[in-house]
Amino acid sequence: MSSSLEIKHLLGLQYVSANDIRIILDNAAEFRRVLDRKVKTLPTLRGVTVVNLFFENSTRTRISFELAEKRLSADIVNFAASGSSVQKGETLLDTLKNIEAMKIDVVVVRHKGTGVPKFLAQHTDAVILNAGDGSHEHPTQALLDIFTMESSLGDLKGKIVTIVGDVKHSRVARSNIWGLNALGARVRLCAPPTLMPRNMGMFPVELFGDVRKAVEGADAVIALRLQKERMDDSLLPSIREYRNFYGITRQTLEKAKKDVLIMHPGPINRGVELDSDIADGENSVILDQVTNGVAVRMSVLFLLSGGRA
Ligand code: CP
Repeated sequence: MSSSLEIKHLLGLQYVSANDIRIILDNAAEFRRVLDRKVKTLPTLRGVTVVNLFFENSTRTRISFELAEKRLSADIVNFAASGSSVQKGETLLDTLKNIEAMKIDVVVVRHKGTGVPKFLAQHTDAVILNAGDGSHEHPTQALLDIFTMESSLGDLKGKIVTIVGDVKHSRVARSNIWGLNALGARVRLCAPPTLMPRNMGMFPVELFGDVRKAVEGADAVIALRLQKERMDDSLLPSIREYRNFYGITRQTLEKAKKDVLIMHPGPINRGVELDSDIADGENSVILDQVTNGVAVRMSVLFLLSGGRA
């Protein structure tokens, strides 16, 4: 396995080179094979201590990182904002400095504030892995999405990936845009006008308002979760109207390729972003995304914490 990346932290994919992305994905493929073995644990990160700092809710990312760390034999500390001294008014930097004083090597952080992982990287010697910062980036989600696409589609150069839904609040969309572009894929975005940021035209994407046109000829469709927790009520007339115009359904997909991949980062609002027969249908790779996430996170942990395979 290769172990040299240009980056020292994984803060986002905007400034990660195609070469680094390739190394992460190639190593993830090796780890994905390990996950199919009877004995799934490697001694790679023995002696490395990782803290999982989750200031926002998470199911998939938190469990996936924790499992990846366990598969690599790291020592793990889990932190949740509720029940911690953050509730007593401790600053983020003080929390970090105290954790660092306990000799932590790697910090996995999820926070509602854009730029929190970068801030931490500037103030600590630990390796920082972004597990989602506000509406900014969610790099390991995009890497696992890309890994899943490559597993079915091969080389993504020239492939069309359509991202549908709440682009405005989506860190998953932003990380996918950068990662997919680095690998030569074409990215289409489709969202209601209120959920499509005005500056999206400056990103390397094609913009669509009509979901049927956006999915025409696409190789993969990523439906995004409506992030109601980051949204005020005025952005959508109603959930039913959203579903009628932007939901991924049999009708919406009529002009899509027969073997188009259906993806979603989770958690899914069934019957809103995706109909259940599509989410559970033969083209869905949503659970493969979850399995692949563990391998991708093992790869990132291995490469950035200097582990030995
Ligand atoms: N995809 C994702 O980030 O899911 P969680 O919020 O459950 O971690």
